Amino acid sequence: MRKKVLVVGGAGYIGSHMVRMLVEAKRSVVVYDNLSTGKRQMVDSHATFVKGDTRDAFALRKLFRLHKFDSVICFAASLIVPESVAKPLEYYENNVAAVVNLLKAMREAGVDYFVFSSTAATYGEPKRMPVREDDPKEPTSPYGMSKLMTERVLRDLNIAEPDFRYAALRYFNVCGAHPSGTLGAMKKKETLLIPNVLRAVRQGPAHPLIIFGDDYKTPDGTCQRDYVHVVDICSAHLLALRYLERGGKSDVFNLGCGKGYSVKEVVDAAEKALSLHVPVKYSPRRAGDPSRVVASSAKAARILKWKPTFDLRSMIETAWRWEQKKAGNKTA
Ligand code: UFG
Repeated sequence: MRKKVLVVGGAGYIGSHMVRMLVEAKRSVVVYDNLSTGKRQMVDSHATFVKGDTRDAFALRKLFRLHKFDSVICFAASLIVPESVAKPLEYYENNVAAVVNLLKAMREAGVDYFVFSSTAATYGEPKRMPVREDDPKEPTSPYGMSKLMTERVLRDLNIAEPDFRYAALRYFNVCGAHPSGTLGAMKKKETLLIPNVLRAVRQGPAHPLIIFGDDYKTPDGTCQRDYVHVVDICSAHLLALRYLERGGKSDVFNLGCGKGYSVKEVVDAAEKALSLHVPVKYSPRRAGDPSRVVASSAKAARILKWKPTFDLRSMIETAWRWEQKKAGNKTA
């Protein structure tokens, strides 16, 4: 019998890539998503789709009565850092309280394995580089804090109920799109660097990329980040799931490539990869941006045997392919 996985938030950017990978790995997949940001058409046709909200404890219980799941992967979350500062209660409700609902329904149904989307934002302004899992965690936003709180909930639940085991995966800068050009980010208004670079390429000099600050203490003055491809992020989830199923103990893992690229380096890489010009304009620093955030993913490599495979060029190329497809669909 195929193992059955519940993917909460499986209609979103990362979730939809995960569903595709699980289907290819011959898992039976049920997606639960409220479609607040996800799209129904992003869900692989081999998965069962259930529209629902994690804040709805009653609906969750019903879902777990209807299906006998072996494991749960949770992507559903609110994840815009500045928005979390303006609406903290919404973030704690969606990223903490709703996950507690999900865990309660899981435990009532006797489901033991949980893979959770966490974030590098749990570290706040990192004290040393590369960042390791046991480094100080001082989130600077309600978003980061909400994810850290849920990690703590998971730890406490594992202590109280050792049969329950989890992997919390702290993503660094997730980007790129499915190499087939059929899945990718769906946001209307982007705040992230690579989608904005591509938008500037498409829209031209009237709408340049705004580079937020070139006076940081980095070699070229712009901030460095650790970019990691969405498909590599999903491979880590599948490895984490298999690890838990083999009896692996609950743990937290960083997911990054271990290499920092500055904003200017990303712009240069995009110009090379696409053979197109990226119009840019400099503006003052964006509030709250740390100068350098680079992961040590040595733990994921050692324990999960995870090895990211996409380089910066292919992150940009796959994202561009997806953007072109979206633009083509709009004009068609
Ligand atoms: N940047 C620009 N112009 C833009 C967008 C971004 O110059 O239009 C710069 C930012 O100032 C920053 C870098 O590009 O220096 C990367 O910014 P992103 O917004 O792409 O990503 P962040 O590093 O700010 O955020 C990421 C995740 C968050 C997570 C955070 C914590 O997207 O979800 O890392 O590490 F919380």
